Parts: sequence; C-alpha cells; structure tokens
Amino acid sequence: MSTQDNYVNPDYVPEPEKVNTKKGLEGSVIDTSSVSKVNPDTNSLIYRGYPVHDLAENCRFEEVAYLMYKSELPTAAQLAEFEKLERSYRDISKDNLNVIKALPKKCHPMDSIRTGVSFLGCEDERVWDASPATNFDKAIRLLAKIPTMVAADFRFKKGLDFIPPNKDLSLAENFFHMCFGKVPQKEVVKAFDVSLILYAEHSFNASTFTSRVVTSTESDIYSATVAGIGALKGPLHGGANEMVMHMMKEIADPAKAEQWMLDALANKRKVMGFGHRVYKKGDSRVPTMRKYAQVMADVTGESKWMRMYDSLEKVMVEKKKIYPNLDFPAGPAYFMMGFEIDFFTPIFVMARTTGWSAHIMEQAANNRIIRPLSEYIGSAQRKVTPISERR
Ligand code: COA
Repeated sequence: MSTQDNYVNPDYVPEPEKVNTKKGLEGSVIDTSSVSKVNPDTNSLIYRGYPVHDLAENCRFEEVAYLMYKSELPTAAQLAEFEKLERSYRDISKDNLNVIKALPKKCHPMDSIRTGVSFLGCEDERVWDASPATNFDKAIRLLAKIPTMVAADFRFKKGLDFIPPNKDLSLAENFFHMCFGKVPQKEVVKAFDVSLILYAEHSFNASTFTSRVVTSTESDIYSATVAGIGALKGPLHGGANEMVMHMMKEIADPAKAEQWMLDALANKRKVMGFGHRVYKKGDSRVPTMRKYAQVMADVTGESKWMRMYDSLEKVMVEKKKIYPNLDFPAGPAYFMMGFEIDFFTPIFVMARTTGWSAHIMEQAANNRIIRPLSEYIGSAQRKVTPISERR
C-alpha cells in the first residue's frame, strides 16, 4: 500500500447512499438561523432583517453588535447602557498583556489574537457557564477586549509602548487611539466603522460554522471563538484582505494592473479578493466598502490604489465574470488608514466576533452535536500483520 496521505483504494466502489457527497459542503443547508441571510440572486445581505448597506450608512458598529446579540436594534437608552458596559470591559489584565508582549515578534497577529482570546478563557472563572445571560456578558467582553489585544500587539510589534483604552471614545475611535495615539478625522473613523459593520456577519461561512461546531460539543464561547479565529486566518477566508494588499503592492503601478491580471489569468493564478462560494453575481457588501475606500483615497490623496482596483476588477469581470468580494476594497482601505498589512485580518476578527457570538448563542440555545459523515475511500478491511513480519 502507498504511504501517500491521499491514498485512494483502487478497488473503491461508491456507496450508493453517499454518492451525493458535496465537496466543501457546497449547497448544503446545515441548520436554520435567524442571524443573517445572504441572497445571491438579489446580491443582498440582511442582518436580522436589516439590509447591511442600510445599517452601514445609518448605524454605528456598537448598534450592530447589539443587534447581533439581542436580535433588535437598541433604543437610545439600551445603547447607552450597552456602551457603558462595553467601555468598562476594555481593559485586559497585566498577565494577558505580558503574554501578548512575550510572543515572538515575527508571529502573525492572528496567532497573537488567537492566543490572547485563549488566555481570556483561562482567566474567566465562569468559563463553563453557557447560560444566555452569561454568554451575552462574555460576548460583550470579547467585543471590548479583542481591540485592546490587537492594538497592544500592533504597538509591541513596532517596539512601542501599550496605550490603554480610553472609555470616552467609541469602539472605532478608541482602536485608532490605542494603535496610533490619536483619533483621525471623522471621515476616516466612519470608513473604519463601516468596514466593521460589513465584516460583522455572513451566515454559515467557514469560521462561523467552525465556531458552531465547537459550540455543538457544549464547549465554551472562548474555545469557539479561538476556533473561529483559526479558520478566519486562512487566505481563502479572512486572510484574503491581507493578500489583496500584498498583490496591489506587488503590482505597484496602476498602469501595469491590466497586464498583470491578464498574466495572472493566463497562468491560472487565484487572484485574492475575487470570487465567492455563495455570491456569483457580485458581493452585496462591495459597493458600500468601495465607496468608503474611495473616501480614504480622497482623504489621503493616494489615488493609485483605487485606480488599480478599477483596472483589476474590469479585466476580471470581462474575462471571467468573477466579481470582487469585500476583501478587495477593505484591503486598500485599511492600508490607507495606516494599518500594517498583517493586522487587516485581526481587524476582521474585531468585527466578526459579533457574528460568531450571535451564532454561538443561537447554537447553544437549540443544540444538537454537529457530526456529519464521510464517504470512506480507503483500504478494504484487512488483518494486522505483526511488526516483525511487515515488509
Ligand atoms: N481568481 C481566479 N479564479 C477564480 C477565483 C479567483 N479569485 N475564484 C474562483 N475562481 C475560478 C476557479 O479557478 C474555478 O474555475 P474552474 O471552474 O475553471 O476551475 C471557478 O472560478 C470556481 O471557483 P472555486 O474555487 O470552485 O470556488 P469556491 O466556491 O470553491 O471558492 C473562494 C470560493 C472564495 C474560496 C474562491 O473564489 C477564492 O479562492 N477566492 C480568492 C480568495 C478570496 O478572496 N477569499 C475571500 C472570500 S470572501
């Protein structure tokens, strides 16, 4: 027998009841959910009934976080109480800060935040309490503390001191404050806030499904979030926003973008920031994020990334009918905001923790362990030969 990992039994005969195996679970409906709906036919996305572009234009990220957890948009009084709590939870312990500081300088910030969230779970004495009230409280803690951990890592990796959170600032403003020591103009804060809203939730995507699988074993919210972070890190999922910017920097000149894309397609190269498992006619979130990436270009006077964006999109759509996904405008937008490229996916975590927590709570409230089947294509049953007789 071959020792290759991908060994397939040459005598394998498909089992009739399993021939409908869907690679990558494509098209499989796994469970019901009331958190969000992606409609590929109308290119739309709703969070608990509200179109995402409507939320992005009219709400702050904190309102959307509340909507995720509580299923309704908050009243002014509810938002004030929620924000007060979120702001009061922003500090992280000295021990957690030291753990982040002690990590190798070259470790990816997604690995840092995965470790930081894991440490939060170790510190919480109520780790096994998954009651709705406790999970809601933990979800707010994750929302409040993840930005502090990401910003601490951002500073430490540059050899700079930690800047503690400022409770007088919104979540988005405070993140800029903790990273750069100042809050930028309101257009920049709005563009960042919009990106958090657009990244907050997207039904049963890979990381959310991962966190639901972990929750289904009756594990805790921190473990499920750590698992979600692990899934999000990959370049086919959240990691694509970083790859988009690496690609744009590699192209460097908008005048070279068209030829670059033609070469990439000729070489069957996968172009990051394009394509989607569910949307086939365009990602519902892209027009809004494209608009705010343009705002960033106007504010900074850096027009080259959006010119490159338009050239790349034009060729890809003309030649392959494959459309940009949210990572395509988010990448250059974050770059123009001044963030290091490897912090783009941790910023995605700051947003997606809301969607993950909503799904974790939904799964916990109506749980059955998630345990699919596989179609076995390995060796037929055989007898063990004693090691002394094996050749
Ligand atoms: N660049 C070039 N070709 C692409 C492509 C891309 N970004 N995305 C899809 N395609 C092509 C595939 O090569 C395939 O062509 P083929 O039928 O000739 O082999 C076809 O489109 C279908 O793609 P497939 O990989 O089967 O789609 P999927 O549903 O399995 O994967 C993604 C979806 C998102 C993983 C995939 O589009 C991708 O890898 N995109 C780049 C990474 C990215 O931006 N991820 C963020 C997602 S929000």
